[in-house]
Amino acid sequence: MTLHKLSIAVFTVLHITFYAQSKKEMSALIRNEFNFAEKQYRFLMKSVPKDKMPQSYNASENRLVTRDISWWCSGFYPGSLWMIYEQTNDPEIKAEAEKRLALIEPNKTFTRDHDLGFMMFCSFGNAYRITKDPKYKEIILTSAKSLSTRFRPGMQAILSWDKMADFKGPVIIDNMMNLEMLMWASQNGGDQKIREIAVAHANTTIENHFRPDYSSYHVVDYDVNTGEVLGKKTFQGYSDSSAWARGQAWALYGYTMMYRFTKDQEYLDQARNIAKFILNNPTLPEDKIPYWDFNDPKIPNVPKDASAAAIMASALLELGQYTNGDEKKTCVEAAKQMLVSLSGEKYHAKLNENGGFLLMHSTGGLPLNSEIDVPLIYADYYFLEALKRYKDWYLQ
Ligand code: GLY
Repeated sequence: MTLHKLSIAVFTVLHITFYAQSKKEMSALIRNEFNFAEKQYRFLMKSVPKDKMPQSYNASENRLVTRDISWWCSGFYPGSLWMIYEQTNDPEIKAEAEKRLALIEPNKTFTRDHDLGFMMFCSFGNAYRITKDPKYKEIILTSAKSLSTRFRPGMQAILSWDKMADFKGPVIIDNMMNLEMLMWASQNGGDQKIREIAVAHANTTIENHFRPDYSSYHVVDYDVNTGEVLGKKTFQGYSDSSAWARGQAWALYGYTMMYRFTKDQEYLDQARNIAKFILNNPTLPEDKIPYWDFNDPKIPNVPKDASAAAIMASALLELGQYTNGDEKKTCVEAAKQMLVSLSGEKYHAKLNENGGFLLMHSTGGLPLNSEIDVPLIYADYYFLEALKRYKDWYLQ
């Protein structure tokens, strides 16, 4: 064998060994995580009041923080339960998931803000995907119709909030996530107008929400009647001109998801550019768990946001499905690093601790002095979704 052939053979063996080990390790990590989640959520279940949803945990008071069903996060707990049930077949987890769906069903006609996609698709969407029960589909279709009533033709976008601070026609980047329910509904028996609304919203957001480096503003304030942009602001970020970490995660996930439904190259390119902004950002730590805002000048002495990492990991795994070569590898390896970090001691709860949540160290609204460095239900949700995606797409 020539030296050249020998070196190719050695490289091939090393390459295969690396991926084989890595696959084995990831497979074990994912299995362990779902087994842990089953036990941890059985613990969480015990302290959730019948008429409320779990949101976070106040460690100093050893108190579960809960919210009403109209809070934007009410779908994440049932959605997480469904994903845990899917992997473990635990009947108690399923029974709790069904109970929680029944509790939030009245949200299907809720029209007071834009969050219905989070509330009804993360919950009933998973339930329908797993059970194919037609009653869940009907609830999703009704919810999509309700959400579509918030579309304002003058601004070619869905109005995020009715009244908030001094905003006139606020649209927040988070709103991209609610389009998933609209796109799904339009492909599953819903009105085609619903699809047009989602596409119009995504196009308006590409036009107005992004800076030249593909970071996103949090809030764009519109004149509701004319669509004139009145201001580009923040509500939860460090400043109007900063890149709030979770906002970047919503943007990445949103455009990747829109590409899934439309195959529109513009959406894919947007997602690829957002991914580059995130992954090449000099403040992104080695463990790939971002600080709460990429532009907080006090980095590294500021809180992290594990929820942003979980959302980014899930989105990057999907983006990996639509990219090739080095770009695909970068997406998948970064997502893997996020999942490995989140599963490690620094971010991961111990059994029967952390109020029953899986992850620690998320940040909800730092400038609002709210939910700083705490567990958050949606961090758990997107962590579980990312684990499932890794298993389905990269371990088969
Ligand atoms: N959608 C609200 C948030 O991300 O905090």
